[in-house]
Amino acid sequence: MRFDTLAVHAGGPSFTIDGAHPTATPLVPASSYWYDSADELDRVLGDQQPGYSYARYASPTVVAFEEAVAALEEAPAAVAFASGMAAIHAALRHFAPDGHSTVFASQDCYGGTHTLLGSTLSTEGLQVQFVDVFDLEALERRLRSERPRALLVEVVSNPLEKVADLLAITALCNSNDVALIVDSTFTTPYLVKPLSLGATCVIHSATKYLGGHGDVTGGVVACASSEQAAALRNWRKYTGSVLGVLEAYLCLRGIRTLPLRVARQCSNALSLAQALEADGRIERVHYPGLPSSTYYSVAERLFPEGLYGAVLAFAIRDADKRGVMHFLESLKLVRAAPTLGDCFSLVLYPVIASHRGLTPEERAALGIHDNVVRFSAGLEHPDDLIADFEQALG
Ligand SMILES: Cc1ncc(COP(=O)(O)O)c(C=O)c1O
Repeated sequence: MRFDTLAVHAGGPSFTIDGAHPTATPLVPASSYWYDSADELDRVLGDQQPGYSYARYASPTVVAFEEAVAALEEAPAAVAFASGMAAIHAALRHFAPDGHSTVFASQDCYGGTHTLLGSTLSTEGLQVQFVDVFDLEALERRLRSERPRALLVEVVSNPLEKVADLLAITALCNSNDVALIVDSTFTTPYLVKPLSLGATCVIHSATKYLGGHGDVTGGVVACASSEQAAALRNWRKYTGSVLGVLEAYLCLRGIRTLPLRVARQCSNALSLAQALEADGRIERVHYPGLPSSTYYSVAERLFPEGLYGAVLAFAIRDADKRGVMHFLESLKLVRAAPTLGDCFSLVLYPVIASHRGLTPEERAALGIHDNVVRFSAGLEHPDDLIADFEQALG
């Protein structure tokens, strides 16, 4: 089946209620399950027979969401977590289980991931190196010489929208026996399916496009093998980082409209990027869908035709922090909030949000200057978005 059909049907209800088939997957909140036969419960608890026993181990609505993600990512299995961060933590611990392993991560990765790796996991002994995944020659040299257990990469960087050459990076990791963990939160399986390119696992903050409506926190790992999924489930079972049932229901419901939403959001992002690029008050627009972007050709190769993602960043000419704060307050339709991927458009100011933990010098080294703002496209009419930016810039 094609992606759009899978989005609507995968993870559909697999059981009946009093003989009737529900058309939508039910939300099953039970925290435990009993069986007519105590022997059967014994077998389920002993993993000798498949079945539900305790919701922290598995429950039907969470499994339905996992099945849908696995179908969309063309993965043998997926494992759902309480947040994107919980999913990232589990994957890192899986591929670098002992405290002395070396792990590489993209220096442009999400701030929370940067802190998890640089502080929490480093304190526990993990050897973390932040690398430039856009310099493929240097990356290859370091992979060869340092032989990390894993490399964590985001397909599109935040907030400057650099597109990683996933085909080349996958080849480098595979030839050096390095597990490639891909955070595909910004791209969704609608834009790219990293497992089909040879990645070892794919992570989503389901809080973003999979949920899509700004009302859920969740994460998921799509795994390249069922053994990997079993190990992650075991980790989740004992760290208690399972996705809640209501959240699984909302994420699954979000998936039903994922292709429609992402297509429209990408098209809105392109419209706004073009309008901003033509506006003299804007110094620079970072969006891989603009032919002026350094990452245009990588995006053309990696993503389906005409889709370049739904997030962009722009620098307001001559604006200092005060000026940017005033711009944020002047927007009437688009709100400033620290997330992305929702059905409504949002802006984020990295200086006070995602990158506030960095010094101005560290931010400048990454190209995130005080006048840079990130935009996440929603489903509004593009003309209304452009008009809101026009009046706020004025
Ligand atoms: C690329 C990326 N990965 C992971 C996360 C963490 O996800 P969550 O907030 O669901 O824990 C975020 C959050 O913004 C993100 O942008």
